[in-house]
Amino acid sequence: MIYGFLGAGNMASAIIRGMVKGGFKGEEISVYNTTIAKSEALSKECGVDVCLSQKELIEKADVLVLSVKPQVLDKIADNIKIDLGGKKKLIISIAVGKTLEYLENALGNEQSIVRVMPNINAKVLASCSGFCTNKNVSAEEKAVVENIFSSVGSITEIPESQFSIFGVVAGSSPAFAYLYIDSLARAAVKAGMPKEKALRIAAHTVLGSAKMVMESAEHPWELVDMVCSPGGTTIEGICSLETNGFESTIHQAFDAVLAKDKLIQSGK
Ligand SMILES: NC(=O)c1ccc[n+]([C@@H]2O[C@H](COP(=O)([O-])OP(=O)(O)OC[C@H]3O[C@@H](n4cnc5c(N)ncnc54)[C@H](OP(=O)(O)O)[C@@H]3O)[C@@H](O)[C@H]2O)c1
Repeated sequence: MIYGFLGAGNMASAIIRGMVKGGFKGEEISVYNTTIAKSEALSKECGVDVCLSQKELIEKADVLVLSVKPQVLDKIADNIKIDLGGKKKLIISIAVGKTLEYLENALGNEQSIVRVMPNINAKVLASCSGFCTNKNVSAEEKAVVENIFSSVGSITEIPESQFSIFGVVAGSSPAFAYLYIDSLARAAVKAGMPKEKALRIAAHTVLGSAKMVMESAEHPWELVDMVCSPGGTTIEGICSLETNGFESTIHQAFDAVLAKDKLIQSGK
């Protein structure tokens, strides 16, 4: 099976690196990128096949991964349809905001189309990706998608109606988490610890806490209670966070992203 990537920028490169690390062979992956040097660099690193045109890529690919920017997709969608020439492929789009309806209208509603939203942590093989499919996608094709994206982290099927929510909780929230880690480290710097050390410790602690939430049977609030000894120090910090609106601040940030997303979707 040939996996063809249209666009070899940040996200496609991260996915391809993950695929090759995860056991896909370089020769199973074809790439076309307008700046050919990017494809050549990936070929040197991962052994992928370099295509010199979109047409060549589409002809070779069984699975076509659209990994260009959404505004580029608007410009080239007609040409992609021409190059497909009515041949059925499994088409995966990672373009933010491009719905299944948009993709079917642009590329043909006979195609098997999957919309995937990976996140930035794909670069360290820790993406939390979500996907939805049109009605043509078979169980085997879903397995192909899961196989590709599980090589850069986890992947979960979600209804398209929840894609905007997923966009905040998985797409934007890495930025929230980076900010939390940096704030924690900066507070440690204020108290006298060197920044580099503080950042590493804060990041590791968040990583461990995420693992704890995922792997223990306890609700996060039970875990909070486990860390807070009666009359101890940590409860002081928790109460301070609560007094200062920690949870409602997160909710407001979540709602702000969702509101902006709605505005963009409505074209305003
Ligand atoms: N980055 C993220 O965190 C993230 C997360 C979720 C989804 N996404 C989605 O992933 C897609 C790619 O994002 P990115 O961050 O990887 O962007 P990017 O680094 O700018 O990559 C896009 C690539 O597409 C190439 N390109 C432009 N026009 C082309 C064409 N006509 N044919 C072939 N290649 C073409 C560009 O090449 P040149 O260098 O020649 O311009 C560039 O290398 C976007 O749709 C984005 O919405 C990104």
